[in-house]
This record gives sequence, C-alpha cells and structure tokens, in this order.
Amino acid sequence: MEVKDLEFAVNGERFKINSVDPSTSLLEFLRSNTPFKSVKLGCGEGGCGACLVLLSKYNPESEQVEEYSINSCLTLLCSVNGCSITTSEGLGNTKKGFHPIHKRFAGFHASQCGFCSPGMCISLYSALANAHRSNSSGLTVSEAEKSVAGNLCRCTGYRPIVDACKSFAADVDIEDLGFNSFWKKGESREVMLKSLPPYNPKEHLVTTFPEFLKKKKKVNNCLDHSRYHWTTPFSVAELHNILESANSGDSLKLVVGNTGTGYYKDKERFDRYVDISHIPEMLMIKKDEKGIEIGAAVTISKAIDALNEESKSSYIFKKMATHMEKIGNHSIRNSGSIGGNLVMAQSRKFPSDITTLLLAADASVYMLNGRKTEKLRLQEFLGMPPILDSKRVLLKVEIPSCTALSGDDTDLFFESYRAAPRSIGNALPYVNAAFFALVSRQEPSRKGVMVKKCLLAFGSYGGDHSIRATEVEDFLTGKLLSYSVLYEAVGLLRGIIVPSKDPEYRKSLAVGFLFEFFYPLIESSSRICSLDSGEKHSNGHVDPARSLSFLSSSQQVLESNEFQPVGEAVIKVGAALQASGEAVFVDDIPTLPDCLHGAFIYSTEPLAKIKRISFTENVTPTGVFAVLTFKDIPQEGQNIGSKTLFGPGLLFADEVTRCAGQRIALVVADTQKHADRAANLAVVEYDTKSLEEPILTVEDAVKRSSFFEVHPMFYPEPVGDVMKGMKEAERKILLAEFRLGSQYFFYMEPQTALALPDEDNCVKVFSSSQAPEYVHSVIATCLGIQEHNVRVITRRVGGGFGGKAVKSMPVATACALAAHKLQRPVKIYLNRKTDMIMAGGRHPMKITYNVGFRSDGKLTALELTMLIDSGMEPDVSPIMPRNIMGPLRKYDWGALSFDVKVCKTNLPSRTAMRAPGEVQGSYIAESIIENVASSLQMDVDAVRKINLHTYDSLRKFYKHISGDLDEYTLPLLWDKLEISSEFKKRAEMVKEFNMCNVWRKRGISRVPIIHQVMQRPTPGKVSILSDGSVVVEVGGIEIGQGLWTKVQQMVAYGLRMTKCKGSEKLMERIRVVQSDTLGLIQGGFTAGSTTSENSCEAVRLCCAILVERLKPTMDQMLMEKSGSVTWNMLIQQAYARSVNLSASTLYKPEFSSMEYLNYGVGISEFAGGGGPYDRKNRDFKIRYHL
Ligand SMILES: Cc1cc2nc3c(=O)[nH]c(=O)nc-3n(C[C@H](O)[C@H](O)[C@H](O)COP(=O)(O)OP(=O)(O)OC[C@H]3O[C@@H](n4cnc5c(N)ncnc54)[C@H](O)[C@@H]3O)c2cc1C
Ligand code: FES
Ligand code: FES
Repeated sequence: MEVKDLEFAVNGERFKINSVDPSTSLLEFLRSNTPFKSVKLGCGEGGCGACLVLLSKYNPESEQVEEYSINSCLTLLCSVNGCSITTSEGLGNTKKGFHPIHKRFAGFHASQCGFCSPGMCISLYSALANAHRSNSSGLTVSEAEKSVAGNLCRCTGYRPIVDACKSFAADVDIEDLGFNSFWKKGESREVMLKSLPPYNPKEHLVTTFPEFLKKKKKVNNCLDHSRYHWTTPFSVAELHNILESANSGDSLKLVVGNTGTGYYKDKERFDRYVDISHIPEMLMIKKDEKGIEIGAAVTISKAIDALNEESKSSYIFKKMATHMEKIGNHSIRNSGSIGGNLVMAQSRKFPSDITTLLLAADASVYMLNGRKTEKLRLQEFLGMPPILDSKRVLLKVEIPSCTALSGDDTDLFFESYRAAPRSIGNALPYVNAAFFALVSRQEPSRKGVMVKKCLLAFGSYGGDHSIRATEVEDFLTGKLLSYSVLYEAVGLLRGIIVPSKDPEYRKSLAVGFLFEFFYPLIESSSRICSLDSGEKHSNGHVDPARSLSFLSSSQQVLESNEFQPVGEAVIKVGAALQASGEAVFVDDIPTLPDCLHGAFIYSTEPLAKIKRISFTENVTPTGVFAVLTFKDIPQEGQNIGSKTLFGPGLLFADEVTRCAGQRIALVVADTQKHADRAANLAVVEYDTKSLEEPILTVEDAVKRSSFFEVHPMFYPEPVGDVMKGMKEAERKILLAEFRLGSQYFFYMEPQTALALPDEDNCVKVFSSSQAPEYVHSVIATCLGIQEHNVRVITRRVGGGFGGKAVKSMPVATACALAAHKLQRPVKIYLNRKTDMIMAGGRHPMKITYNVGFRSDGKLTALELTMLIDSGMEPDVSPIMPRNIMGPLRKYDWGALSFDVKVCKTNLPSRTAMRAPGEVQGSYIAESIIENVASSLQMDVDAVRKINLHTYDSLRKFYKHISGDLDEYTLPLLWDKLEISSEFKKRAEMVKEFNMCNVWRKRGISRVPIIHQVMQRPTPGKVSILSDGSVVVEVGGIEIGQGLWTKVQQMVAYGLRMTKCKGSEKLMERIRVVQSDTLGLIQGGFTAGSTTSENSCEAVRLCCAILVERLKPTMDQMLMEKSGSVTWNMLIQQAYARSVNLSASTLYKPEFSSMEYLNYGVGISEFAGGGGPYDRKNRDFKIRYHL
C-alpha cells in the first residue's frame, strides 16, 4: 500500500504536513498554523459550536462530494487526511466579498460580540448545502431553525439569528421575519424580497473539492505510522493484525469521530491511534425484513437517515431516529459514531441515549474478541467489564424489526422520552427512557388493554449504564391495564431506579415517563379540548414528532429624523466582519514564534498552607519554561491581581490559599497545550494544621462574624416604620426563607491576554477586558513600574457580562508578569474549566423575611434579612446592598427595613454579573408578592397592581432620584401593555386552557421593573484626518452591545452641525478604534448599561468643540464661495489654516442627571409540557414596554 503524507486543503489552499503529534486537533492546527482565525475556541468540548468548519469528502467511485459540519476542536488533524476544509472566511470575506449568509447575519442584527458568528454561519451553510443536495425545493423553515440548534450564543439572543437563517428558507413568510436593516416596517413583500442580499445556490454554494485532493483520494492513503503514529486499517482482518502486533507496552487508542474527548478528556498520551472509520464492515448499513444492521463506525447522522428510511416498515425505527436527532448537535452527530457512543456507555458509564433506545428495541451487538466474533444481547454487553482495552472492538449493532408482532387485536407501541436542560441541542439528559409494549384489546367490550409483552428501558439517571426494568416488565406482562396496576408498577420502578444525584427528581422523571406511556392506554375516553390555537389533544398527549416552529418575533423601533442618524436601525459596525470571522479578538492577534503560553495552577483546598508545588513523578512536563508564583513578583511590586473601589485582590495565593480555585502559580510553556497539560500534572502539597476550619456557608460566616464592611453610601436607608406597618397588617407571613444560587457568565471568548515586553522596562498588553484602565494600573502596581511604562489595548471583547471586568485583571497581570520576567511575549488563553473554576460568578444569597399585608393584598410592611456570599475578596460585593434594594423598592411595601450582610467566605470571590443585584432584587420582590397572593388565594396580577407606587410613595422610597411627576410613567405603561397585549382576555384563556388540559399547562404574568440608572464620567476623543475621514476613541469597550455603532451615529450627528454639503452621509467616514490606555486615559469600567450613553455624550461634546473650531473657516468659505461647501473642502481648508482638528473631553454627568429611574413592564406567556416532565412542546411569548 502506498504510504502518503498528511495532506488536506483549507479554503482551497493545500497543506502538507511532514509529521505531527497525533493528538493535535484540527482547531489547534488551523489557529496556530494558518491565517484562518474564524475558527474559535469556545469550550473545546463540542458544546458551543464556535469552532465549526465544513468538511468535504470526495468519493472517487461515485465521484460525489459529501459535505457536513464538524467540531474542529474534537476532530483530530490526521483524520482529515485527503479532505477539504472550509471555514467561514472561506465562504466569503472582505477581499472576495461577503457571502449572503454573512450579509444577512449582519442585516438581521444577528451578531453582537461576534465570537459565535462564524460557527453559526458554517452551521447554516451546511444546512443549505444539504437541503440543496437532498431536496430540490431547498431549505425549509423548520430545517433553518434547527440548523443552529447546536451553536451557543450568549449575547444576541436566538431570535435575530434564527430570522437570518429563516430568510434562506424556501417556505418562509417574509413578513414573519423580525426587525432588520434591509427594509422598513410596512413595506410590501416585493420590496422586502428585493432588499435581501441575493442568494443563489448555484453561485453561493461555493465549496469546490480541490483537484489535487481528488487524485490523492484515488488510492487508499495510509499515513506513515512511524511519522504520524496513526494507523488506518481498511478491513477487520487488518485491524485484527494491528491489535495483535501492538507492543504490549504501547498505549493505543481506537478512534472514529474522537467526539468522546468532548466528554472525557484524555489524561494520558497515547503512543498510537488506530482510525477505524475506513473499515467497510464497520461502515455498512444492511436492511431486510428481519431488521437493520448498523456498523459500529457509522455516524449517528447516517444512522438517523437509515432509520428514517425504514419508517414504512417499522415505526419503531422512525421513533428512534426522532429521539436520536436530539443527541448532541448536527456536528457531533456528523462525526460521532454509534459504536463510540455504545463503548463509552459500556466502559465509562456515559449517559447515552442510544443504549436506552436500543435496549427497548431488543438490539444485539457483534464484537471482535481476538479472532472471534461474538454476538451479545445489548444488556449482556452493557453488563460486561469495561471493554476499553483496545483488544476488543465493537463491530455492529442489530435491531430486529417488530412489525410482524402486531395483528388484528394486538397493537404495538414504542415511545421514548428524555428530560434535559434544553429540548434540542447540546444537552445530555437528566433521565431518558424508551418503552416498547405489545398490547391486546380485550373482548367483548374492547375497552381494556392487556400487556402481552413490554420492554422498559431507562438510562442516564446518574447511576450505571442504561437498564431494563425487568421486574416492572414481568409485573405488567399478562395484566389488564388499570390505574391500580399502573400504581403498583410505579412503586416497583421507584425501587429500581437508584440515581446517585438528585435522586427524588430523577426518580420522579422516570416514574412520570412510565405513567405518561401507559396512561393513554388506560383512559379509553379521550377528552378533547379546543385551544385558542386550534390544536386538539387527546388526553393531553402530544405527538413528540410534531414539528414545531421554535421562534417567531416582532419588534418595534421608534425613529425620528430630528437626531438622524442617532437611533436609526443601522447595521452594527463590523457585523459582517464578525460573521466571516475576520474580526480580530485577542487570541487572533498573530504572535511571534518565541511567544510563550501560560496556564494557572489553582488551589483545590479552601483554606490551607501551600507547602510545595511539583509535577507528577517529579518530572517537568514537556515544553515547560517556568513556574511563577508570588515569589516572582518584583521586589518593588506587589502581589496584586485586581482592584476595585473596595480594595485590591491578590494575584497569587501567598503561603496560604484561601479558596479552592485561587491562583497559586502560572506555568509558562512553549504552547498553550503544553502549559495546560503541565498545569494538570501539577501536584500541590497542602498543610491544614493549625488553621481554622474554612468558612463555606453564609451561616458559618455569621457564626464567626466574617463580613466585609459596607460604606453607608452603598447601604440604602430603611423606609417608614416597619413596626407600625406590621401592626396595621391584617395578615402576615413570618420567617419565610429562600435561597438564590450562583451563576457563571459564559462569555463565549474565555479570559485571554497577550503581553509583549518592550524597551526601557515597558510592557504592552492586549487584554480582553471591560476595564482596561484598571488592568493598566494593576499591572503597574504588580510590576512596581510607573503607569506610563504600561499600555493596555482592547479592541473588542467576545462577551463580558461583568465577568471581564474585575476577573480579567489577574489574567492580564499574570501575563504581564511573565512577559516582564522572562522578557518574552506571553499569552494566556484560559481553558473553559479553569475559567469556570476561577470565575466566582453571581452572588448566591439567603433571604429571610416577614411581610405584613391587608386582606385585599395591600402591603403594609416588609422586613428582610439577607446573607450574601461574597467569597474571599471584596471585589465589588459591597455595592450589592444598594443594587438589590434598587429594584426591590419597585413596590410600595408600606414600610421597609433590612439587614444585609456581605459575608466573607472561603470561596472564589463573587463579582458583578449581568445586572448584579438587580436580578436578585427583582426576584426577591416577586417571590414575596407571589407568596402574598398565594396565601390570600388572590390573582397575583391584582396584588402587583394594588402595590404599584403612587408618585408620593415613589418619592418616599426613591427620594431625590424619583424625578418629576410626569416622569413617573410606570402606571401608564402598566395599563398600556394591558390593552396592547389583550392581557385580560389572554389571562381568561389561560385559565380555561388549564382547566381543560391534564398535561399541557399555561401561565401568564405581568411584571413591572424600576431600574436605577447611574452614569459615570467617560472620556472621548474625535479627530478629523486630512482626507475628511474621522477617527474616534472612547472609554467604553465594544463587548457586543453595539457601542461603536452608537458612537459612530452620534459623531455623524455631531459633525452634521457643520451644515456642510454631504455631511448627512458621514457615517461611513467614521471609524471607532480600539481602546488604548495611553491614548485615552480614565476609560473606567464598561458596565451598568450606561457606557454607550456616556461615551456618546463624550463624543458629542468633542464634536461640538470641533464644530465650533470649524465655524470661522466655514463662515469664511461661505462668504468667499457662492455655492455650498462640501465636507472635504471644509476639512482641506481647515488643515491649511492649522485648525486643531482633534478634540478630547471627559464627560462628567451633572449631579441632577447622575442617577435616574427607568421603568418597564413585561408580559410573558408560557405553555409547556406534553406530559408532566416533557420539555418538548413549549411555547413562550414575551411582550414588554420600556
Ligand atoms: C457535546 C456532546 C454532546 C453529546 N450529547 C449526547 C447526547 O445527548 N446523547 C448521547 O447519547 N450521546 C451524546 N454525546 C456522545 C456522542 O454520541 C459520542 O461522543 C459519540 O457517539 C462517540 O463516537 P465517536 O465516533 O466520536 O467516538 P470516539 O470518541 O472516536 O471514541 C469513543 C471511545 O470509544 C472507543 N471506541 C470507538 N469505537 C469503538 C469500537 N467500535 N470498538 C471499541 N471501542 C471503540 C474509542 O477508543 C474511545 O475510547 C455527546 C457528545 C458530545 C461531545
Ligand atoms: S464546540 Fe468546539 S470550541 Fe466549543
Ligand atoms: S454574539 Fe453570539 S456569543 Fe456574542
């Protein structure tokens, strides 16, 4: 057999690699060895879709090209030998012209920070290409919606993304598409259609398979395994020989899609990989009247297609296919194999859906064991000791056909269930189940049904592998179904399902599934209820295969010409660039070959002395350059990694670690992979002798009086006399208690920084931060150098949500320390696990309250105690009392008193997380209102309404920030929304629906909000260049919120005041550039929802200065010239007259406008549950007014 080099194409470009570490992923290669940076590393686990690429494979026999999306973070480089890869910039780019997908993503406002967008575009492209190949009528709306089901977006919200996708669907009703910048509301269908960037499959399905690869594909190209440590057998016999001849000392790994590493990170390095995805026997799909055989290397996608084709002969197969469409996402199913899934379930207790389905379908497997091939029932296979020894190989699965079993008086039922955090896309089930039942109708009434046979499989419930509940099966077999029989069966099942985690919840799910399956067979008379939607349900049982439309929307934007272009719905600056993946994030900045990479070693103990840091077996792992701890901080510097108004935070733990997750050291290595691996291999020796017990709960903190001080400025005053209010109360709820948990930010771009040492003791740091000014000053303090020696640059941030404010500082500081000490460029790109462990996230808290109220629901007094878990450092936690009390005061509580403790515990410090305190404050208020309503058995909406503030009570609760009477618009909004949403009618319909339906339930809720806005000083700088183009700098950071776009609009508006000809078209001449802490100082934090507003005001002031400076030139020119003056003429003349055309300012809000109240009302309507635990059939509507 001819031995070939590893060769493939990326965006048509040829890549030939001489040798490579076989564990190298396609993503690592693309990001480090090619200019194609659209492939982003979000999770590295197949869970986010940021790394998607299109894989094209050529079949020399059929001369056909097969194309599908794959996760480049999981795909091993050697497995793409002979393939062609297309990334988002390969579809279109700035030079070639953007692809219609990019253009429509931009126009539908479907890309905020843009980190997820290239992956989204690939998903959509792949769906379009597939639809084009398999269906001449093109993509359907349902396919378009599902195309991005496996892609996470943390900023944009899926509505605009799905609108962009649906715009390509052949059956789309164009009027259903939401707000966009292509057409205005009310325009005709023809105009709308014409305004969309054109898409023509012949022209825009652009991927072509390179000729040089077609030639390569004509031979069985097997890589030289001495160079690549990668072997590709082409038959079972060859595979057997490879396994036999493997040195006993060699570690060997069988791979198909390698998606298993998304769940189980390989700890050890393997000496050799054996790619079993080219063995015909393992790739076959054979169907006959006996059933279907599926080779173990067949991908889940191909298995689904085959099972779907079988639907005519066996509806079980169709049901299985429907369930399997919920496994992972498109790309995982495109590369993950059936065999890989089964082996993971068998050997590593993976919570598999496939094993549960196959158990209920009575499937068997064939296994290669030495030279022998064994056939085993699936339950036998699952019950064996783990087979992951690379000696035994799963060859195929056999699923029998059961159609012959049903007859005149027998019926066959098959149903499967899964409860997961999300109904479609990337969520492993909490519990799954699949049931097969053969039942006979009993004569003479033919009303009852007898169970002749049943197979009841349950899986993924946090126990071992999937199981059959044989005791329940035996109990039910031969019985006439009745409620008492079912009740006994449920009792038996409760003893069989023994989950290791959340046992009650998971047991109740399993029981619910069983009940849901058999219940309709008992209830012969079906209650049919008519819904407003016109749907009909029998016993509330909904066909899970029913295709639902997931998202629809409408949005209204009020525009006025007065401040044009401010407020216009323009395309976000750089949106198409983000979609094509050319937008540069910190990790996309090309690095020099001598760049080193860092990874943190963090503590696993909450409170302990650190005795020693070493590596496993005392061997320094490959590639390690240095391990830096607090001892490496220069003498003139300080061990500081962050700072806020409330004090500094440590960069590294010193002698003692104070929480699990605290940074102990930074490993610096030649590659990020080596640094991460070394950090994993680190061994930290701890000593807890003579230390107190760690404080791990707020109750512990109270016992030991461990609190952070809160300045009175951040501790609002109580309102009214609570004792009096309690006396006036006719009813009371006393000592009610509840807790709120924490939450992780999940910015799609992990924390990252790149530091470059510079001449004369300087350092330049690129940081993905919401607070570069603070990063700057922390670095200078840590290194003990003057602030003018440091320069921090932030162009854009791939999502922040508060997590890239304080928490970005230690990452950039550690990076700067390493670069400063080693005098080499250093980059840190946190892996998702480290990021999550160190992040801290939202503040968890415990709330206890007493509330007094009258019988009509009017509140008289609220007394609150709050214990906030702030972790080990103050961070921004002392602002929490203020932030919680802001929205909580949205109701007139009569009187309000509170005791808020900011607890210091041995946990990672919590920080500002998307509306910090606001979310909790609003939640607390609503929980109390709900509790009051339920204790009075009143409609909660009525309790809310009666407690809305009057202007007088508003002043009592919010004092000077209440504004004037006419500014208090909340009651108006409350009534307006009631009319526009037909709230009362809907609430009645909800009541009626709930009375009629057993399983599906609806709810409707109207909630007010009062948001206390606080403005902060913000700098801005506007400079006009000699050609009339304009460059703008602002303190605010573009984190996806569209700050640059709003600033650009404001500058265009501001400079329009020169009134020269053509100045209304200035938008495209303005560029907002990256934040540079030496170029524009005092940038502050980008947070609190006011940075865009403040940055706009700063640049408006700059424009006013420039307009003033340009005025004499303009007047002079108007006097000298009879015609009008154009913008370019004005600027040329101003340059000739040496007018200063750069203006900067620091906008300082006036005291009177520093804080103000914002009001909003939202209505949400929810319908859910085809069964009590079913997340399949849900409907959610939100309507709001601000
Ligand atoms: C993000 C994500 C979401 C997922 N969601 C779900 C889900 O919802 N439900 C679900 O059921 N699964 C889910 N999975 C699991 C997925 O189905 C499996 O990862 C996939 O099927 C494994 O196939 P593979 O070809 O990639 O296996 P590989 O990763 O190549 O192999 C997995 C393991 O099995 C061994 N192996 C593979 N084939 C054989 C064989 N024929 N004989 C012996 N050993 C073999 C390999 O050596 C390896 O140890 C998810 C996975 C990911 C990454
Ligand atoms: S799926 Fe690959 S990086 Fe998240
Ligand atoms: S735009 Fe999707 S993650 Fe930011």
